[in-house]
Amino acid sequence: MTTTRIPGFYRLSTKERFDMVTKDRGLTEDEVIYLSGREALSMDLADSMIENVVGQIGIPVGIASNFKINGKDTFIPMATEEPSVVAAASNAAKATYENGGFFTSMSGTIMRGQIQVLDVADPFAARAKIFEHKNEILQHCNEKDPTLVSLGGGAKDLEVNIIPTTNHQMLVIHLIVDTKDAMGANAVNTMAESVTPIIESITGGRVLLRIISNLADLRLVRARAVFSAEAFGGKEIIENIVSAFEFADFDPYRAATHNKGIMNGISAVVLATGNDTRAVEAGAHAYASRSGLYKSLTKWEINADGDLAGSIELPMAVGIVGGATKTHPVAQASLKIMGIKSAEELAGCIAAAGLAQNAAALRALSAEGIQRGHMSLHARNLAVMAGAKKSEIDVIVAQAIVEKDLRYDRILEITKTIQRGEIVGSNK
Ligand code: MEV
Repeated sequence: MTTTRIPGFYRLSTKERFDMVTKDRGLTEDEVIYLSGREALSMDLADSMIENVVGQIGIPVGIASNFKINGKDTFIPMATEEPSVVAAASNAAKATYENGGFFTSMSGTIMRGQIQVLDVADPFAARAKIFEHKNEILQHCNEKDPTLVSLGGGAKDLEVNIIPTTNHQMLVIHLIVDTKDAMGANAVNTMAESVTPIIESITGGRVLLRIISNLADLRLVRARAVFSAEAFGGKEIIENIVSAFEFADFDPYRAATHNKGIMNGISAVVLATGNDTRAVEAGAHAYASRSGLYKSLTKWEINADGDLAGSIELPMAVGIVGGATKTHPVAQASLKIMGIKSAEELAGCIAAAGLAQNAAALRALSAEGIQRGHMSLHARNLAVMAGAKKSEIDVIVAQAIVEKDLRYDRILEITKTIQRGEIVGSNK
């Protein structure tokens, strides 16, 4: 296994980085072409993915380095339009590497399908009757997906809730389905729709909604890592990080931004692997609110050695079979780069990316503030927009930072001065 601890990785050319992370990964010709950006997806493929297609939008895929996950060095592909995200995740991961990196686990690959039943005269009796027919209901669901069942998955159990609302008391049945390596929405929705006649005949009620729940609380991923005080800026900074976490954990205004930072990492890997970013985001935020107060998805503590221990827990409904994970060549390339063999393994990598992202954000916020790190990346983007050549970018960025001026006009002026072969000064 190649090490992901590559000093100066960010300084390599895109071609050098590409070769390094794809070497011996068995990428197909198409995967190489599309990941390298040499060609856009064919419009036919795009048109088969969504409706009314007129074009495409390119999002860069970066590779976060320094990640060791469950003892395995793993390059993390991240699709994002936001500067600093990949660099920040890589930097935070570096501070865990010597401590063994990230350790992850998963509660299972179980999703819930909800069936809403209205107009039930005797909901408590109906609830009891549903349980009497549990085996028949589960068997009916499993007949809809023999492949999933042959892989050890399928409908495993039922839960029945009676929900009082303003106008009705409704019965809500949860189909508990093990979707294995699939995200599972198709399997679960098909099962939930197919049992409608049985449920109506058992309860005497009217089935209305039949749909998966994105609050995938039976599909929780957990990750943890130790960031040594020394590698992470010292005792004072790690104590400040704990205080920053406590702020988020008790103030929803801060928690929203704190969790947004976590999702910078999570959604980037979810997108790079062709998974459903909105499903994961909805699950994460609903889970963060489960106590009634919207809280942090991570926890930060000082451990017995005086180092910073971080952990994260959230629902992670991602798959490696089906949908865009299978049809999109870049998604396939991402999975190969990570060497992923199961949905559980992918979920662990995503959680590690989220934890690293949060560590990096809290570190920057608790020390120098977020803007310093952002400045040079922002200046780079502006220099590219101003038409700077690759060889000119470093000088332009350095000048903009000395001047502490990141206005596009000034960067354009610096770029033009350099391109005329003149010396730039701070005579703005
Ligand atoms: C910016 O995209 C993310 C942060 O705001 C996260 C945070 O505040 O923790 C830096």
